[in-house]
Amino acid sequence: MAKHDKIIIGNSTILNPVPVVMVSCAGKDPSKDGERPNIVTIAWAGTVNSEPPMVSISVRKSRHSYNLIKETGEFVINLVNKSLAKSCDYCGVRSGADEDKFKSCGLTSVKAEGLEFAYAIKEAPVSVSCKVTQVLELGSHDMFIAEVVAVTADSYLKDEEGKLCLDKAKLISYNHGEYFTLGEKLGFFGYSVASDDVFEKRMGYKKERDKYKHIREEKAAGKNGKKY
Ligand SMILES: Cc1cc2nc3c(=O)[nH]c(=O)nc-3n(C[C@H](O)[C@H](O)[C@H](O)COP(=O)(O)O)c2cc1C
Repeated sequence: MAKHDKIIIGNSTILNPVPVVMVSCAGKDPSKDGERPNIVTIAWAGTVNSEPPMVSISVRKSRHSYNLIKETGEFVINLVNKSLAKSCDYCGVRSGADEDKFKSCGLTSVKAEGLEFAYAIKEAPVSVSCKVTQVLELGSHDMFIAEVVAVTADSYLKDEEGKLCLDKAKLISYNHGEYFTLGEKLGFFGYSVASDDVFEKRMGYKKERDKYKHIREEKAAGKNGKKY
């Protein structure tokens, strides 16, 4: 067995990169200061189920948004592109208890598709309307688990065949405390075993080196019975 020669950095939330999203929400009476549409930046967000589509966000009880989401059981996950990056950071360092963050950032609140109380951010390329189904008290954060009830997207993200092209959205991610745009496309789901034709069609260039060709050929010949 090889000798373990890694440095030990202790136990922490080191899983990186993660998405960083702008979660919008509102109270039941948005005309009141404390219940107006608000935006909170969330890095502890994730997809947790496919059918039905479900997501989670983890929020500290001390956040103004926590009370709004708890009260209405609704929130919207707005995906963040390069032009929203600074507003995204701002909404993560100022509280909606003290100011109208939509106004401070020059953003527009629009009624969220499929929800009664929450608002979406018009300038976001994609907005995901969510209804809370469970709240888990984990320690520092409560995790809101929610079902996705609607997704809206900017029309420029669709190609002629109606396919959603998220690569056009210029989304950002969050890596160990810093924001980044996405880099070079390395592949696609299943590209390690894709045929030459599919590879070329999806990547726009020919495969240079086919590391797994022999496994594909063995499989096609019935020698390797493994299924994925
Ligand atoms: C990049 C970034 C990620 C953050 N992620 C979370 C998170 O996952 N959960 C959370 O409770 N707060 C998170 N915060 C902090 C809140 O966004 C911040 O406290 C915000 O001011 C709360 O706004 P509110 O009081 O209007 O709800 C994050 C902040 C930043 C800048």
